[in-house]
Amino acid sequence: MRLLILGGTRFLSHATAAAALARGHDVVCAARGESGSVPDGAMLVAVDRDRGLGPLTGERFDAVVDVARMNLPWVRDALTSIDARHWTFVSSVSVYADDGSLLAPLEEADPTDPEGYGAVKVASENAVRATHPDALIVRAGLICGPGDLSDRFGYWAARFARGGRAVVPDVPDQPVRIVDVRDLAAWIVRCAENGTGGTYDGVGPATTLGAMFDEIAAAVGAPDLERVPVPADTLVAAGIEPWMGPRSLPLWLPSDSLGVVSRDPGPAAAAGLTCRPIADTARSALAHEQALGMDRERRAGLSAADERELLSRARV
Ligand SMILES: NC(=O)c1ccc[n+]([C@@H]2O[C@H](COP(=O)([O-])OP(=O)(O)OC[C@H]3O[C@@H](n4cnc5c(N)ncnc54)[C@H](OP(=O)(O)O)[C@@H]3O)[C@@H](O)[C@H]2O)c1
Repeated sequence: MRLLILGGTRFLSHATAAAALARGHDVVCAARGESGSVPDGAMLVAVDRDRGLGPLTGERFDAVVDVARMNLPWVRDALTSIDARHWTFVSSVSVYADDGSLLAPLEEADPTDPEGYGAVKVASENAVRATHPDALIVRAGLICGPGDLSDRFGYWAARFARGGRAVVPDVPDQPVRIVDVRDLAAWIVRCAENGTGGTYDGVGPATTLGAMFDEIAAAVGAPDLERVPVPADTLVAAGIEPWMGPRSLPLWLPSDSLGVVSRDPGPAAAAGLTCRPIADTARSALAHEQALGMDRERRAGLSAADERELLSRARV
């Protein structure tokens, strides 16, 4: 199969290129090359999508994978410029409002607005389906594993590996879904091979935050790790952010915002998405954290100082 990946220099699109190469496919990646390099064996065509797809315009591929994050003009441009038998668009579970309904589509939005992100994804999905009714639309949940730049899942692997008293949000029954980047990538490639289409929530098995912490701790936790549950209202009062970002406890969510972590993994599993154990993702995430440096400034999580202050404030 001759596969075009619009991206390929980092995380999911890089993993998808690697998965396709491992299956013996001919892989072309279109990106600027600023985020990293493409996997060995893939061909990089340097393009800036703000200026169009340049030498790729008018080309035909067996399959295309587009990961455009929040850019409807890029999505439309690719659809009109490239011919392909199979089209995959990587969307997000952020297309759902908290009540599970679909957000209204938006042509553009403020890049920092989470609802705007989902709304532009909805518009992008619609554009893809209008040209390729049999497209694969993957509404990815939290993607974890090696190469993750958001520092969310990796925070927990690194924190538990450091050991000692680790603050965790006291919501062990909170639902959570994660998907390992390598599993999602392999599934995207198999769907392209098989011509699988349809719209799926690309999420892993249903689990809870407590069960996920158990698995991460068992896989990579230091012998002296003690998880210290802190109630959600204490975290809120201390200004700790949920889900992501600086001074956050990643993957923790307010009780009225659980829609995105409660999606049904069944349909994607029935369509062939197989997910490795969380322990495997935790070991790989820790190796990635160690390569980046365990004491670096993080995009998500608590610093050691923030955590100490929280522990003394919570008197736990
Ligand atoms: N991370 C999550 O947990 C999560 C959850 C749900 C959905 N998603 C979705 O999953 C996808 C993730 O994709 P990804 O992991 O490959 O990462 P990404 O950060 O979306 O990067 C995608 C690619 O876009 C390329 N790119 C950026 N600007 C460009 C430009 N002007 N012209 C050409 N190429 C450009 C980058 O390469 P260069 O910089 O080298 O050009 C990179 O290879 C996105 O669609 C995201 O919305 C992610």
